[in-house]
Amino acid sequence: MASIVTCIAPVNIAVIKYWGKRDEKLILPLNDSLSATLSTEQMHAKTTVMISPNFTKDRIWLNGKEESFENPRLVACLREIRKRATSKNGKNCELKVHICSENNFPTAAGLASSAAGYACLVYTLGKAFGVEGDLTSIARQGSGSACRSLMGGFVRWMKGTQNDGSDSIAEQVFHENHWADMRVLILVVSDSRKKVSSTSGMQLSVKTSDLLKHRVQNVVPQRTKEMIQALESKCFHTFAELTMRDSSSFHAVCLDTYPPAVYMNDVSHSIVDFVHRYNKLKGSNKVAYTFDAGPNACLFLLEEDVPEVVGLIKAVFPPHVEGKTFMRGLPVENAVIQ
Ligand code: PMV
Repeated sequence: MASIVTCIAPVNIAVIKYWGKRDEKLILPLNDSLSATLSTEQMHAKTTVMISPNFTKDRIWLNGKEESFENPRLVACLREIRKRATSKNGKNCELKVHICSENNFPTAAGLASSAAGYACLVYTLGKAFGVEGDLTSIARQGSGSACRSLMGGFVRWMKGTQNDGSDSIAEQVFHENHWADMRVLILVVSDSRKKVSSTSGMQLSVKTSDLLKHRVQNVVPQRTKEMIQALESKCFHTFAELTMRDSSSFHAVCLDTYPPAVYMNDVSHSIVDFVHRYNKLKGSNKVAYTFDAGPNACLFLLEEDVPEVVGLIKAVFPPHVEGKTFMRGLPVENAVIQ
């Protein structure tokens, strides 16, 4: 008998960035990272897994197009799921799967598409094969940041100390209802694929950037502690400063990489400038920006400030900048700037 399961998974946005691996195969990071999980309402990955004795081989379709099943990360995730399923049920685990996965937002544009995609894939496979328990250490082997998309709220991915990766898992630090009036505004500056993938950018940074060593050893551990305190006490001013500093520290490492990995563009920099001017005018930090491996901005702000900030962004930025706001739980606004 065939079994079929469909799930959706959210995007997460790191406020303390993961950049650099100490183990490429197991995807073990050099530092802890911390992220906010967004609502699944607007940006999500959706995966359907079908298992059937009639299937002769594993197959996968991504955004409607069949892809080769040779991707080592995909193979690793499926292998780990099958291993767990075998030790639990002892049967049916070698049945072949057909997987259909799609994102309802641009893929590989620095909008955490692989995080949502692999989280969804591993979660859906886990359901289909009846696997229980922690799946973050499997999702991590698809795309590092994917392990943080398996939970809502604020999530910390621990780098761990073991060589086998057994303690490099993600844990929820604060529940999705914590700081419920926090919002995220995504400014899509460009939805084309990034020039340097995060995998190759990271490899090059590990090889060539001295600043990365400083960031990993001296910056991130203390900043992570301070970030957790700011989240706990809901001090937006501090949260914002730490978030912006960490984004800049990560992009500084990218520029310190040789040859440099340039992800932000002129529009990204003008968004940075806009946020600092706005915060200065308000006398404290009301908005925080963070940029992943792409030019698109994620702005964190409180709900009460959304109308004014969205209005200003619409007035200041060119028509191709599309803004979408998300609440971690429910979307509150979907503003397209034109
Ligand atoms: O999980 P990856 O390999 O797509 O890397 C993600 C890296 C950043 O998005 C830049 C930072 C992060 O922690 O999400």
